[in-house]
Amino acid sequence: MRLFLDTASVDEIREAAKLGVISGVTTNPTLWAKAGGGDYRDVVVEICGIVDGPISAECLSRDVEGLVEEAKRVAGWHPNVVVKIPIDEAGLEATSRLSKEGVKVNMTLVFSANQALLAAHAGATFISPFVGRLDDVGHDGMAVVADSVQILERYHLPNQVLAASLRHPLHVIGAAKAGAHIATMPYSVLKGMLRHPLTDVGIERFLADAEKAAKAARSAGKR
Ligand code: E4P
Repeated sequence: MRLFLDTASVDEIREAAKLGVISGVTTNPTLWAKAGGGDYRDVVVEICGIVDGPISAECLSRDVEGLVEEAKRVAGWHPNVVVKIPIDEAGLEATSRLSKEGVKVNMTLVFSANQALLAAHAGATFISPFVGRLDDVGHDGMAVVADSVQILERYHLPNQVLAASLRHPLHVIGAAKAGAHIATMPYSVLKGMLRHPLTDVGIERFLADAEKAAKAARSAGKR
């Protein structure tokens, strides 16, 4: 399972990219606003210069022709840009047309395995079930990831399930166990995956014991 960062903050992306474990980025208008706004194209192109992998950028048009035109324009910003299109009638039709023309689509705001199957047939490269938002309303978000993966595998469909709206490290484990191809997460969740108090205690103890051992060696040398 590949790990993507779910943010439009260039600073966060620069910091996380240094760890060498991030292979893509997902953005949306909420994340763009949270990161301080600015020209969306500039932000996305800057991200493309930091992470060499799929960078998702959201399309906002609400009709098929508008979506197709906007998606082609956005996809032209950089070869790594993947256009994000919400799943509804217009989104599905636009995705069918775009995928036939080789434009990569991340079908977003997916909340059921039925929607995932439709996105797959429309040719979306990535299909994004929103786990946390389903959990928020009392549904089992990870079950949608697991069902979507199972359906794609059962029919040998080439689309990739991108587990999105992940809120904590247990979501990441759940996505991996469910067979998601990709998990996208905020930087805070990535840091949560990394940190463990026993690792910190272990490092402290090794440093203290190395100091003790060196001291013993020094006093043995003096005798
Ligand atoms: C990613 O593609 C989604 O836009 C993002 O994960 C949504 O996360 P949220 O539900 O925490 O806003």
